This record gives sequence, structure tokens and C-alpha cells, in this order.
Amino acid sequence: MGKVSIIVPTFKEAENIPELTRQIDVALKKTKYKYEIIIVDDNSQDGIDQKVKELEKNYPVKLKIRLNEKGLSSAVIAGFELASGEIFLVMDADLSHPPEKIPEMLDKISKENFDFVIGSRFVKGGSAEHFNIFRTLNALVSRMIARPFTSVKDPMAGFFAFKSSLLEQKVKLNPLGFKIGLELLVKLNPRRVTEIPIQFQERLYGKSKLTLKQQILYLIHIWRLFRFKFRTLSEFIVFSLIGASGMVVDLSFVFISYDILNLNFRVARVIGFVFALTSNFMLNRKFNFPKNGHGIIKQYIRFFIVSLTGFAVNWTISVYLYETRPFFNKYYLLAAFLGILGGLSVNFLGSKFYVFKQVKEK
Ligand code: GDD
Ligand code: MN
Repeated sequence: MGKVSIIVPTFKEAENIPELTRQIDVALKKTKYKYEIIIVDDNSQDGIDQKVKELEKNYPVKLKIRLNEKGLSSAVIAGFELASGEIFLVMDADLSHPPEKIPEMLDKISKENFDFVIGSRFVKGGSAEHFNIFRTLNALVSRMIARPFTSVKDPMAGFFAFKSSLLEQKVKLNPLGFKIGLELLVKLNPRRVTEIPIQFQERLYGKSKLTLKQQILYLIHIWRLFRFKFRTLSEFIVFSLIGASGMVVDLSFVFISYDILNLNFRVARVIGFVFALTSNFMLNRKFNFPKNGHGIIKQYIRFFIVSLTGFAVNWTISVYLYETRPFFNKYYLLAAFLGILGGLSVNFLGSKFYVFKQVKEK
């Protein structure tokens, strides 16, 4: 593994690029690695093109300017498409990531056969001393949220390298926000991952682009990773939440039909049930199982069948427990609760595998 593509996303970093390039060259000149630097800039208009033109004379630097797209992660992904190395390495432009650590990271891959290496702030010997309180706290919370996805100590790092062959897998990368490293860790699922300590430096020039908007995007990103990694569980959670919302719909319509329209209670309950069912159906169709197959009428009829079955199961379980086990005589609400759980499971499985079953694309 001799060639590495160093991908550097930039937005208003022109001042940092010459120094970064020089430091990378110093670090790699003495090694056996050939390299290319691929800068992906989102039309900063800060003279970066002139700077790169100068650098091109002495260094293997390429600049891609994107006019129609913005965003760190998507810039990195665009960089992958232009890169030709056997190893891809991603780093920030602002010299927060020490270029002198690059050879060590590459050795982990090419000599020790790791698939993915992170320049980590949070393993022994690493540091992020220049962080202010806000960033420290922010990093802590972000890491905690990422725990279910990876055991890596610094999954938020923007400094990492990996075997480019990992990208041959057919997975769709989500270019949302800042955390492209985490995205790759979860989606590419590299087998052998390691971290080497780095000292994260405060940026040299310019200012950070990690804004509140990025934090919100991070939460959306995490939710999407959750959907990706724990798909059925996440569907079940959304299904239950929609079910709870349906109860509110049901109660509202019972109130309207019984209290305001003065309809018979039996009729009012049917109306409540049908409206709740319809709203559950629409919400699930739109948000929980959006890539579904059959036509809407067929789905609706199926959803009706499943819901009635679910109710029958719900009723049967609770009544059975109540009537045959003395214990549940006392704890009858528990019997009802278990019935509800059973009904919910039937509804969920029926919805997933029958109502909104995905039909194979032709
Ligand atoms: N092309 C492009 N488009 N590049 C961008 C964009 C964008 O919209 N936003 C930021 N960048 C580039 C910056 O120019 C810089 O080279 C790099 O991405 C990191 O941006 P910073 O603004 O310096 O981010 P940071 O220092 O706050 O965050 C860094 O540390 C975090 C850990 O605290 C990044 O490495 C994060 O990925 C990391 O999580
Ligand atoms: Mn930075």
C-alpha cells in the first residue's frame, strides 16, 4: 500500500492551505508513501484557487471547487470520488490535526493491517487542551450519544484514515453534517479499527464552522444511523409513538361524536377507532415505512385487517389472563397492559411484513 489520498474539505481556509501542504510534505517525504492532496472547497471565493496554483508547482495538490453543494461531509465524499490512493486520509485544513502523525496512521494500515485508524483526542496521550468549556461539554455529549454505534473513544474525529477498498461495499453514505468519520465507521463497518493519540490544536487562522445548525444536523444524523443500524427497533419505536398519537385522535373523535354530535356511544367508539386507525395508517405510511410497495387502497384494507386482528389478540390475551389466573384478578391493569403489548406486536409485525411489505423493484 503505497499511495495515500489526503482529502481536505475547506470553507474559507485559503490562509491555512500553504502551511498545511508544506507540513504534510515534510511528514511524508521521508517515508515510502506517495501522496496526493485533494482539497474540496465550497466556493469560498477567498483566493484559494490562486494559492493552490502556486502550490501545484511543487506539490501534488488538486483543488475541486463545488459551486452547487455545501457541507463538510458531502465535500469529503466528493473528495473520495476524485481520489485514487489505496488509503484515504481525511483531515481538517486548519492545522488542528498534526500532519506529523500521518505516517504513523498509515503504518497502522499498511504494516499492521488495520482497516481504519483514527487520530484520537481521547486515548491515552491524546489531548484537546485548547478546547473551551463549550466544546468540551459538547464533545462529551456528542460522544455519549454515539456510544450505541461504536466503542471507539473519539468517533467524532475529523482526522482518520482507512483502506479505500472499504468503499467498494454497496452502501449509501449520508452526507449530512460534520460527522463523516462516524458515518463511515457505522456504514462501512471496518473490522480492525484502532486509535492513535493526537494533540488537537486550536486552529491557526479563520474560525470554526461548528455551529448550532451543525449540532442539530448531528442529532438528525444520529437518528438516521439508528434507523440504519437498529432498523426494526427504530421502526417499532416510531410505530408505538404513532400508536400513542392515535389514542389521542380516538379520544378526540369520541368526544366530538358523543358529546357534541350527541351520537350513541357505540357509534362514537367506532368513529374514534376508524379515525385513529386512519391517522395511524397515514403516519406510518409517510414516516415509518416510506419505501412501501402496494397501492394505498390495498394497504389501507390490509391495515384494517391487521388492526382488527391486533385488537382481537389484545382482548383475548387480557381476558384470558384475567379469567384463568387469580393473580391477574388483582392486577387486572397488568393483564390489560400485556394484552396491549401483544396487540401492538401483532399490529407492528403485520404492518411491517404485510401492509407495508416492500415489493422487489423491477
Ligand atoms: N468543503 C467544506 N464545506 N468544508 C467545510 C465545511 C463546508 O461546508 N464546513 C467546514 N469545512 C471544513 C473546514 O474548512 C475545516 O477544514 C474542516 O472542515 C473542519 O471545520 P472546522 O470549522 O475547523 O470544524 P471544527 O474545528 O469546529 O471541528 C473539528 O473538530 C471536531 C471535533 O471537535 C472537525 O474535525 C470535526 O469533524 C470534529 O468533530
Ligand atoms: Mn477546526
